[in-house]
Amino acid sequence: MIRAAILGTGFHVPEQIVTNQDMTKWMDTSDEWITQRSGIQERRWVTIGTDGKATETGAEMGAKAAAQAMAQAGVEPAEIDLVIYATLNPDCFFPGNGVFVEDLLGLKTAGAMDIRNQCSGFVYGLAAADGFIRAGTARTILVIGGEIQSTALNVTTEGREMAVLFGDGAGAVVVQAAEGQRGILASVLHSQGRFAKDLWLEAPTALVPERINADLIAAGRHYPTMDGKLVFKHATRRFCEAIKEVLEKGGATVDEVDLLVPHQANQRITEAVGKRMGLPADRVFSNIARYGNTTAATIPIALSEAAAAGRLKSGDLVVTVAFGSGFTWGANLIRW
Ligand code: COA
Repeated sequence: MIRAAILGTGFHVPEQIVTNQDMTKWMDTSDEWITQRSGIQERRWVTIGTDGKATETGAEMGAKAAAQAMAQAGVEPAEIDLVIYATLNPDCFFPGNGVFVEDLLGLKTAGAMDIRNQCSGFVYGLAAADGFIRAGTARTILVIGGEIQSTALNVTTEGREMAVLFGDGAGAVVVQAAEGQRGILASVLHSQGRFAKDLWLEAPTALVPERINADLIAAGRHYPTMDGKLVFKHATRRFCEAIKEVLEKGGATVDEVDLLVPHQANQRITEAVGKRMGLPADRVFSNIARYGNTTAATIPIALSEAAAAGRLKSGDLVVTVAFGSGFTWGANLIRW
């Protein structure tokens, strides 16, 4: 049986570390508030150069992560059939970041598509890669999750609820057709659009001439906003539902799960989900303290770090699960 196996992982984060203490220079907040509410101690943000632009692009970060994953997998650029790039922050309105990665890595006209599914983008991306591989449309796929969020944030007291949570970075995996037990066993995907505006970024928008105007900017509608408590409540519930559903679909039980790799939204969400699922802390991965919420990048960064730390061994049963803006959520069950 052909399955879509993850053969390599990689990640890249900007050099600049922004601590909770740094946040207190720009807004009314405290290290204690941020750590207690979210578990975040620091995050990486791109550096803004003297020309007023980020010194690295999102696609460049994604390409660096992908190059590591390819080296680990022993895969050459000419072998990549498709790039799936999950991001809510493409470097430009169009085209998506995937095509820039095709160029940066010299992928010889490999297909490229972006997925706009915010925090669950990588889970959707893995599910898509699995489908393409099983259908024979592609044999080797790069799935990348990457974000530059810092440039979208309102870094003042007004925007503090969002600003302290988010970080920049990219992670990637190489997924390849393989025979045997190893690979993605099942995926589940969901959305509920009635909550779209409870966690969103309205502008720039195709609905107004010029895409952005002074009124939108004056009203702060070019900043992301959310109903934090509502998101928290739904996330905790949907994470658990998706884990149960994907395990059932893949014919496995929670006792068999070696590592749960949840989207890193909030340490309290991660702990609540682990507890509700009856998983001890050593079987639930967390690195939110160092990177914050990097949206589509949290899971591939976590997979990279977990693999490097020896926490993902051949044959392990792994669940990835995410929830975010849309609302969208989903999970993958993977035999490592
Ligand atoms: N520093 C200090 N105070 C802050 C703050 C900050 N960075 N951000 C918000 N506050 C204030 C609020 O203004 C509010 O003040 P008020 O009570 O005077 O109105 C108060 O803190 C709210 O505190 P609390 O009720 O304890 O917050 P919370 O437990 O709901 O935690 C979040 C807030 C944002 C951390 C939490 O709701 C959350 O993580 N939600 C999910 C967010 C998420 O994951 N989004 C991404 C999607 S995956």
